[in-house]
Amino acid sequence: MRFLDQRALPSREVVTDACALDEVVEAIRTLAIRGAPAIGVGAAIGLVVALEHAADGASARVRADLPAFAARLIGARPTAVNLAWAVGRLVLRAATVEDSHLVAALREEADAILREDIAMCEAIGTHGMSLMPDGVRVLTHCNAGALATAGIGTALAPVYAAHGAGRRVHVFADETRPLRQGARLTAWEMQRAGIPVTVLPDGAAASLLRTGQIDLVIVGADRIAANGDVANKVGTYGVALAAKTHGVPFYVAAPWSTIDIATAHGAAIEIEHRSADELGELPPGVGAWNPAFDVTPRSLVTAYLTDRGFVEPPFLNA
Ligand code: MRU
Repeated sequence: MRFLDQRALPSREVVTDACALDEVVEAIRTLAIRGAPAIGVGAAIGLVVALEHAADGASARVRADLPAFAARLIGARPTAVNLAWAVGRLVLRAATVEDSHLVAALREEADAILREDIAMCEAIGTHGMSLMPDGVRVLTHCNAGALATAGIGTALAPVYAAHGAGRRVHVFADETRPLRQGARLTAWEMQRAGIPVTVLPDGAAASLLRTGQIDLVIVGADRIAANGDVANKVGTYGVALAAKTHGVPFYVAAPWSTIDIATAHGAAIEIEHRSADELGELPPGVGAWNPAFDVTPRSLVTAYLTDRGFVEPPFLNA
């Protein structure tokens, strides 16, 4: 499997290969591949590649390895539902085919997940055009663009669609501490697309919202609970609170597959905690609390934009 290694951006465009399971798991764990939909697509393709790599043509071995390989991948990052969802699709597909067709069927399923992701992004962009009049000023947090998906992104899909239609859009990107996805990745891909972008420190988002310079906030999601609570990159909750205070609409954009009807509410979403090393140098002996995500309650979300259009919680079925 070949992918753009997001750890090196924006200074270098490094393309990396992963074949063995350990390499695929490491790419996801260290955010070389990141963003909920991209993690799902990367895990699906990576799982097939890793199974083939380990089995060397023996279908029985592929079937024997599948449960353990799937479990290791799902354990790489717990919060984004897309990871378990995509891997689960391959496991289900394997259960329906004979050994002689197993590898071909798994390849086909991973390919379908990739193609569907591209189409879901397009659909989110099309439905989201109504949010993007000419001259719109948009605040986003983290990176929910092309780098986070196989297509044109989720939160940034309407931005790309509006830009493609000739409308002027200005994106304000929160830096997104501590791994700086907004400053490194959103700014990089907006600049590449010729879309004006301004980066601000996370701590400045509330002040910017108060100035009246932002028409709407739009973010992605890693998991949306059945009641509409949204897990997304840490800092999203604070932006949503500030948006509410200052009367700025706050939209969540995600493919339907990010909605997890099996999770009743946000408190049941497992939040990934990451190493203190990501926070930079601290005085020796000082503790750190470094959650990678937070939960924004449904009450702060103006509307949910999906590939099926605008949808309303509670989400009861697929
Ligand atoms: O830790 P990351 O960079 O994988 O977190 C990414 C986010 O929180 C995104 O906003 C989310 O996955 C949606 S991406 C379309």
